[in-house]
Amino acid sequence: MLVVQSIAKNLQMPYDYKSIFKVVSDIKTIPVQLEKRSYSIYLDDNWESLFQEGLSSIYTKDASDRKLLLITDENVANWYQQAVEEQFRNLGFTVTTAVIKPGESAKTLGEAEKLYDIALEANLDRQSLVVALGGGVIGDLAGFVAATYMRGVPFVQIPTSLLAQVDSSVGGKVAVNHPKAKNVIGAFYQPQSVLMNVSSLKTLPKRELSTGLAEVIKYGVIYDESFLSWLETHMTDLMSLDLSLLSKAIQRSCEIKADVVSQDETEQGLRAILNFGHTVGHAIESSAGYGSYTHGEAVSIGMIVETRITHLMGMVPAEYVNRLEAVLIGAGLPVTLPDVDPNVLIGWMRHDKKNIGDKIGFVLPVGPGRVEVFHNVETDIVLEALA
Ligand code: NAD
Ligand code: GLY
Repeated sequence: MLVVQSIAKNLQMPYDYKSIFKVVSDIKTIPVQLEKRSYSIYLDDNWESLFQEGLSSIYTKDASDRKLLLITDENVANWYQQAVEEQFRNLGFTVTTAVIKPGESAKTLGEAEKLYDIALEANLDRQSLVVALGGGVIGDLAGFVAATYMRGVPFVQIPTSLLAQVDSSVGGKVAVNHPKAKNVIGAFYQPQSVLMNVSSLKTLPKRELSTGLAEVIKYGVIYDESFLSWLETHMTDLMSLDLSLLSKAIQRSCEIKADVVSQDETEQGLRAILNFGHTVGHAIESSAGYGSYTHGEAVSIGMIVETRITHLMGMVPAEYVNRLEAVLIGAGLPVTLPDVDPNVLIGWMRHDKKNIGDKIGFVLPVGPGRVEVFHNVETDIVLEALA
């Protein structure tokens, strides 16, 4: 892990934040309503306006003695570390940056412990800020560190992968993995602000763009059939990195997620619908070994298997399964299962967090744009859908 210590530039007092940034025009703001824990998501294509809009309301006073731990990975640091550090220094922060190895294997308690060490060495206190700059791995790990260091310090998400922009940076789920199960050590810990620069998708590998699109398509299936149709119409342009259309897709995805999370922050009921495709998807990820499939690829196959289950139960026509297959294939995603014993997959599904007792929980489509949670699906039907 590389640690870079940078000292804040001296700023003249009183600190006039607005004066050093240019005027913002078309930034999009999506509120996440959670009473005292409410915050906003800011979406634009440049860092300056994002920082102006997304942090000026939080850090209006002099911040020259504030410390900040920026957590990122090597790939993202390569492109965005400098620009983001500069924005925070302009705000008067002393920035310490930890750059970790990319990939799911970083989401561990061991890695979190190294980050606590760095935070202590940099004298981070309860007023200090932890910032996640990266994909979902960095967001989940940095959020976990923010939630636990000194029993919780302020946290800002700067998601750079599409998956992180449409899903993991919103809603406050933070976690590390246990060797026996994914995301089982964690918390609900909301950020103070989420800054999304859609331009960062320009450097995202194509496979990671597809993985984010799986979650985008998920929102259409669970919540908004007209959004699903819109995605079908524009998938080729989205895949060609049309930033204006991607921005619209991110905005609608975040609106849907914010709406669901505002109604059920800690997943007592409704929030479970965000896990459509994930019961089977997590089983695929676990059985294949993490890293073989990206999260979105596994969820893509999971969405098809779970729609097949609901078709076998007589709730949606075969055409709906075909429709979802077509849009997922258009997004460059797999829709067929790997060569694995279906009973092994069912074994993994028995560890799913949605289960009640020994009943596997599934989120199943019951019509276009609508899903419901089921705990009574016959194992024979699951096996047939997996066949
Ligand atoms: P990731 O964080 O591993 O990022 C994918 C890859 O893209 C990495 O190699 C990363 O370095 C690289 N990358 C990211 N942004 C880039 C950019 N702009 N340019 C170039 N490279 C870039 O994976 P992910 O798909 O973003 O997130 C997956 C993780 O998110 C999983 O751990 C999953 O459990 C978690 N997740 C959490 C939630 C939640 O609600 N907290 C929801 C969904 C997924
Ligand atoms: N990604 C599922 C959730 O945030 O609840």
